Amino acid sequence: MSNVKLEDIVSLCKRRGFIYPGSDVYGGLSGTWDYGPLGVALKRNIMQLWWKMFVDDREDMFGVDAAILMNQKVWQASGHVDTFTDPLVECSNCKSRFRADKIDLSRCPNCGQKDTFGEARAFNMMFKTNVGPVDDESSISYLRPETAQGIFTNFKNVVDSFYPDLPFGLAQQGKAFRNEISPRDFIFRSREFEQMEIEYFVHPDNWQPEFEKWVTLVHEWCDALGLPAESIHELEVPDDDRAHYSKRTIDFEFDFPIGREELLGLAYRTDFDLGNIQRESKKSMEYRPKDGSAPFVPHVIEPSFGLERALMAVLSAAYTTDEVNSEARSYLKLPSHLAPVKVAVSPLLKNKPELVEKAREVYRMLKKEFGAVMWDDNGNIGKRYRRQDEIGTPYCVVIDFETLEGDTKDTVTIRNRDTTEQTRVAIADLTNPGVLSF
Ligand code: GAP
Repeated sequence: MSNVKLEDIVSLCKRRGFIYPGSDVYGGLSGTWDYGPLGVALKRNIMQLWWKMFVDDREDMFGVDAAILMNQKVWQASGHVDTFTDPLVECSNCKSRFRADKIDLSRCPNCGQKDTFGEARAFNMMFKTNVGPVDDESSISYLRPETAQGIFTNFKNVVDSFYPDLPFGLAQQGKAFRNEISPRDFIFRSREFEQMEIEYFVHPDNWQPEFEKWVTLVHEWCDALGLPAESIHELEVPDDDRAHYSKRTIDFEFDFPIGREELLGLAYRTDFDLGNIQRESKKSMEYRPKDGSAPFVPHVIEPSFGLERALMAVLSAAYTTDEVNSEARSYLKLPSHLAPVKVAVSPLLKNKPELVEKAREVYRMLKKEFGAVMWDDNGNIGKRYRRQDEIGTPYCVVIDFETLEGDTKDTVTIRNRDTTEQTRVAIADLTNPGVLSF
C-alpha cells in the first residue's frame, strides 16, 4: 500500500505545471486533463522509453499510427457496438447516475436516500459522432475506445509490405476515448486518455510460451519506470470478468495512492479480431508461412499499457518526503531518464552580470548537449533547489564567484537532488560521460 496521498500529487501537478483540469478556465470538463510543460515532457519520456524498449530495440516489432476515426464496421465486427458497456443505475430521487458495480446500491452516494436504484442498464461507453455533413445511420463513427483495432485493421497491410516472420508485433501509441460513467481519481479513470498497445501475432500452438515471455517483459517495463517490484501485483482475471475477446488476461496492478488498481493488462485475444475482420470484410487474414506449410489466421497476445496510469504510478513511486537541514522537503525522486528537466542552471546571484553571463554560457552549452535544461534564477538558491527537487530535476548546476577566479576558475557546483550533496566540477567536464548521467 502506498503511503503517498493522492491530493499531494494532484496539488504538485497543478502548482508546478504538470497537469491541469481540462477546460479549467470554463469550470472544467469532467474526465479530461490538460498537460502543462512538465507533464508533456514526462509523458513523452515515458512514450519514448516504451517505443525504444518495445519497437526500436527489437527486430520483431513494427510501428503503426492509424486514424482515430474508423469505419463503423470496425466497431460492429469487434463487438464494441454490442458489448462495450458498463452497468448504469440512476437514483430515482436525485437522478444522479453511477456505475452499478462501483457503489453500494442500497443507498445513493449523492443524496443519501435508501433503495432508490432500479435495474442496471447496459451503457455503451463509446463516443458516437457523424463523419461528414450528413447526419444519418451510414455516417456514424466512434472515437476509438482502444487503439488495438487500428492495429488489427492494418495487419494485412504490414504483412503485404514487409512479410515478417511469425511471431511479430505491431505497436501503436495514441489517444483512446471512453465515456466513463464515473471518471475519478485524477487521471486514473479519464474519458480521454492515451494507450500504448502491442498486438503480438503468434502461431496458435505457441500462445502460452509467448504469453509468459510478455509477463516477464511487462515486469521489465515496470522496472524501467522505476516502480518498486513489490508494488506490482499480477491478477489472473477470472472467466466472468474478462473482456469479451479474451481467453486469458492478467491485470498488472500497482499500489496507487487510491489503493491497488489496474496499471495495465495482458490478454490472449486468440484469433477473435482477425477472425471477425476476415468474416465481415471477406478478405483473408491468413498468414502464409515461408516454409510452405498451411496458411492460418494468427492468434494474438496483447499487452495494453495506459499512459496516464503509468504516469500516475511513476509520480506516486517518485513522490518522497525527507528532511534537509531540519526542514521538511517533498520531492520527486524520478528515474533521471524520465525527469522532465535534466539539469537546472543558475547564477548564484541574478543581479551580478558577470555571474549571469557565465551562467548563460554554461546553460547554452548544456542545452545544446542535453535539450531538457532549464534556466532558473528565480528567488534565492535554496528556493531554487526546493523547486527543482519538487519537479524531479536530478541536477542543479550553479555558477558562483569561484567560477570566475582563482584555482577554481571555470568550475561550477553540481548539486544532486537525492543526496543534496554538492561537488565542484570543471565546466569543460560537464558533458563528459558519467558526470551528469541520465
Ligand atoms: N485493447 C485492450 C484494452 O483496451 P483495457 O483493459 O480496457 O484493454 C487497457 O485498457 C489499459 O488502458 C488499462 O490497463 C489502463 O491502463 C488504460 N485505461 C483503460 N481505461 C482507461 C481510462 N478510462 N482512463 C485511463 N486509462 C485507462
